[in-house]
Amino acid sequence: MGHFDDVCAQALSDPESFWGDIAETIDWDRKWDSVLDSANPPFYRWFAGAELNTCHNAVDRHVAAGRGQQPAIIYDSPVTDTVRKITYQELQDQTATFAGALAGAGVTKGDRVIIYMPMVPEAAVAMLACARLGAVHSVVFGGFAANELATRIDDAKPKVIVSTSCGIEAGRVIPYKPLLDAAIDGASHKPDHCIIMQRPQVTAEMIPGRDLDWNEAVAAAEPHPCVSVAATDPLYILYTSGTTGQPKGIGRGNGGHAVVLAWSMKAIYNVDPGEVFWAASDVGWVVGHSYIVYAPLFHGCTTVIYEGKPVGTPDPGAFWRVITQHGVSVLFTAPTAFRAIRQQDPNADYLKGHDLSHFRALFLAGERCDPDTLSWAERTLKVPVIDHWWQTETGWSIAANCLGIEPLPVKPGSPARPAPGWDLKVLDTAGAAVEPGTIGAICAKLPLPPGCFPTLWQAEERYLDSYMREYPGYYASGDAGMIDEDGYVFVMARTDDIINVAGHRLSTGAMEEVLAAHPEVAECAVTGVADSLKGQLPVGFLVLSSDSQKAPDEVVKEVVQMVRNQIGPVAAFKTATVVKRLPKTRSGKILRGTIRKIADGESYKMPATIDDPAILTEITEALATIGYPKGG
Ligand code: COA
Ligand code: AMP
Repeated sequence: MGHFDDVCAQALSDPESFWGDIAETIDWDRKWDSVLDSANPPFYRWFAGAELNTCHNAVDRHVAAGRGQQPAIIYDSPVTDTVRKITYQELQDQTATFAGALAGAGVTKGDRVIIYMPMVPEAAVAMLACARLGAVHSVVFGGFAANELATRIDDAKPKVIVSTSCGIEAGRVIPYKPLLDAAIDGASHKPDHCIIMQRPQVTAEMIPGRDLDWNEAVAAAEPHPCVSVAATDPLYILYTSGTTGQPKGIGRGNGGHAVVLAWSMKAIYNVDPGEVFWAASDVGWVVGHSYIVYAPLFHGCTTVIYEGKPVGTPDPGAFWRVITQHGVSVLFTAPTAFRAIRQQDPNADYLKGHDLSHFRALFLAGERCDPDTLSWAERTLKVPVIDHWWQTETGWSIAANCLGIEPLPVKPGSPARPAPGWDLKVLDTAGAAVEPGTIGAICAKLPLPPGCFPTLWQAEERYLDSYMREYPGYYASGDAGMIDEDGYVFVMARTDDIINVAGHRLSTGAMEEVLAAHPEVAECAVTGVADSLKGQLPVGFLVLSSDSQKAPDEVVKEVVQMVRNQIGPVAAFKTATVVKRLPKTRSGKILRGTIRKIADGESYKMPATIDDPAILTEITEALATIGYPKGG
């Protein structure tokens, strides 16, 4: 057995001493009564009885240990032509003062705060300030529309919302305040206050009494100390797509999260304190929570907050510029970013002249990494390119090639082996483990390792229904795939209605709900079809009501706009087609999988249960009118 096998064996055979030893790296205000409380499965609780503060562990303790002058954050914003460094000392001061401002607005331990901000360092300051107070933050991605924000306001019931006057996308400025105001208007719950950071590009109109200016609130505030919370108290809620339009509020506790993320920086990413780590994602996603903000700071690294894109800000050399300029050791992004760079610069001409000698590894996640993109990245960068698999639910890797423990040979298409603490099994529909190499539902034996979601925010039944009941004793990941003879995991597809568009997790069910609300649409289906840049793109199929008076093209245009207005531009829903009927099974289930195969030009078997096979010919013809299959 190699070293990696030893570590995994130890983590599974004696999880309490494995994670208990690792937990010594964290500053606790009170030690745990038990490392793992298994009294109420499947609600396992790590470090029950312990108390700590997440912000102290991410910031204050590093200042106390002499890192005060090291940059904690490098803010690099090509869209505003800004580079700004914030030391650990400055981050501590800013976070303590903003925590004071939040407290002044009435926020105390356990209250929720929604953060609706673009990639500016103040987003991280706001998150850490919540953690400092023991308040629960919920960051909402800027690409979501007002309606999605309203849904989250009603679910999280925030006392305060923190936002900015605008976000900046390549080539356009997006005023956030009108979206925020519309969301609050549309929500039943109303926050007491909004704290708005004005940016020079747009001045937000303020509502007197409710809205507070960030600078004024901070100027009037006293620095607030760190508040001790239970390890099992919630640190944040992060909403992610589920099967329906109602997003799932993934909860995350303080204790296990700090332990596992601090450990992962060395064990998985092989990064040391003091080094520069860059996750090119967004604070609105789980990757941003874990690897832009918390993990690098727990570990005493410098993290990069990049407000730009891999291409177009200004060119496909943007990533190489940032890596060189800031001495980045390890980059973490989604494969789609590399597909975007490769499409515009296939020979990597923009790499020339950049000194990447300090750059050690590229980690990819968020969607399946196609072997072509993997090998292009390896050839171009000449460093290990590591695919790893994880989910909002888990907050860190389920399967990874742990460079800091023992690098394993790379198998293209696989995120390598289960990370320490994960006992993965591929199960068939009857719940039995399948043979190596056989596809089934990828499940993790309970208890899950520390850091994973203890429940869904105020939705315990949904937690049990969505994840725990189908395979008793296991967490159903929602991903299908296989594990080969060498123990390598291959994640192939979702088992539900979730699609992955440019590394963003989206629900086709939620899009169908929007389309179905159009008065002329009698029935609809949305399916994800393959896209060479974004991995998948949603395509809609509409059956119009028999008395529809509108031209099909007009309805298509309207539903495209409706999805943009109600879910947001991030849904990238731009294509729909009108069909006479939808293919269904005799019991009425829409055959979305078959539609997808036709759109992707894959061969498919005529489903035995299909109601009327002629419908598939109609679907093929309708797809041809909108250019699918591509190149076919
Ligand atoms: N605020 C407002 N709008 C946003 C937004 C934000 N934070 N993020 C994206 N959008 C908009 C985009 O402007 C775009 O609008 P458009 O339809 O008017 O063009 C739309 O949402 C779709 O955005 P995106 O999917 O990002 O596509 P893109 O064409 O702008 O860029 C990539 C494509 C591949 C370059 C980009 O998706 C990317 O860099 N991905 C990196 C992967 C990543 O960050 N994944 C997160 C998980 S690790
Ligand atoms: P999210 O919760 O947004 O992080 O999305 C999680 C989903 O993205 C997973 O359930 C997978 O379907 C997919 N995913 C993430 N990483 C990978 C990966 N490395 N390989 C394959 N699929 C992945």
